[in-house]
Amino acid sequence: MTTTTVLDHPTTAAAYTPTTLVAALNAPKGFGDQTLRDRRADAIELLGGIPDPSVLPAAELAESAARVLAEPGLGALQYSRTAGLPGLRAWIAEREGVPVERVLITNGGFHGLSLGVQLAVERGDLVAVDNPIFPLFLRGLELSAGRPLPVPVGAHGIDVDALAALLRSGARPSALYMVPDFHNPSQGTLPIDERRELVALAEHYGFVVLADNPYRELRFRGEPVSAEPFNASSHVLHVNTFTKTLGPGLRLGWIVAPEHLVPDLVALRSRQDSHSSTLVQAIVGDLLESRPTLFDDTLDRARALYRERSDGFSAAIEREAPGVFDITAPEGGLFLWPRIVDDGIDADRLADDASAEGVEYQRGSFFPSGPGADADRRLRFAFGDTGVERLEEAAVRLGRAVRRQV
Ligand SMILES: Cc1ncc(COP(=O)(O)O)c(C=O)c1O
Repeated sequence: MTTTTVLDHPTTAAAYTPTTLVAALNAPKGFGDQTLRDRRADAIELLGGIPDPSVLPAAELAESAARVLAEPGLGALQYSRTAGLPGLRAWIAEREGVPVERVLITNGGFHGLSLGVQLAVERGDLVAVDNPIFPLFLRGLELSAGRPLPVPVGAHGIDVDALAALLRSGARPSALYMVPDFHNPSQGTLPIDERRELVALAEHYGFVVLADNPYRELRFRGEPVSAEPFNASSHVLHVNTFTKTLGPGLRLGWIVAPEHLVPDLVALRSRQDSHSSTLVQAIVGDLLESRPTLFDDTLDRARALYRERSDGFSAAIEREAPGVFDITAPEGGLFLWPRIVDDGIDADRLADDASAEGVEYQRGSFFPSGPGADADRRLRFAFGDTGVERLEEAAVRLGRAVRRQV
């Protein structure tokens, strides 16, 4: 047998030159500081919006997986349609109150946002964004070289009056990114009138709203606010995900898109990965169709758990560090968003001391407007995957960190 030598000198590799696109991606942004720092081996990490494993339906998913794989005719290992499997789309469409044709399955919420940006944002376009913001969105925006235009977010979500003022003064974004329910990080929910006003602005000025709604099902007190204004608009991509309800590892989500944008989204997708995993879609579709009450039953347990954690942790912080933080009790979601109200506390030092005491949390990187009074004083604590006892211990450690300064 003869061997063909392709290269005479295979040891000299040509230098790799990154593409302009890749070269423009900077060092880690957003959740940079706390995520990357060294931490104690016994650190309590309150970093990510992670659902608790005890309220994810693993056993039921295993049964659905066995079922869809045992039936070759279901085609769970085959290619499928770009828009998603009909059964899963129909289940989502019914829940959203929209025609099935408007539901497109994605690989999770972030993927839905990426598709939205590719659809709506030309390179260099202005994109109005929440301030503070879910920082991954800004990373996604880098790929389209969109220029963020920060819009203040208050106790009840994005400040629609402030947005209207920016538009009246001549700002012309091609898209707007916002989180309507249990805003990440600031926890507010946009009231129904503001939802209508926001949609009216989008329709008047001709921009696309990316309404990113992953926490919507996690309401544990108060009344839900309808998503109908988003689902009814010709200018909104309502982006959602099973990440916080059935598990982030599924990488499964959806977009409710206006009918006229569906063909463009399908065209984009069919030039990328073609479709989301047929197997994962088939498993989740089977789970939801064969057990009609499972989704809501699972969520009832999840909501009770997150409420207990949210309330228990807030109370423990107030007990261990009285008067240091102002915490608005969230109505849902997976985060607390305290503000340091004690002027004697240096926020940078507190983060270092908390880390030394064994508590890690996020701070500082949520504001596209850059440093400012509020940006410096805000912390984000994620409680989703940490039990009440550990949260109590986290509060004790935080109290010790505070007392290093007072
Ligand atoms: C506001 C927001 N949008 C999108 C996502 C991403 O969702 P997924 O994991 O489904 O991509 C998250 C996850 O933490 C989030 O908090």
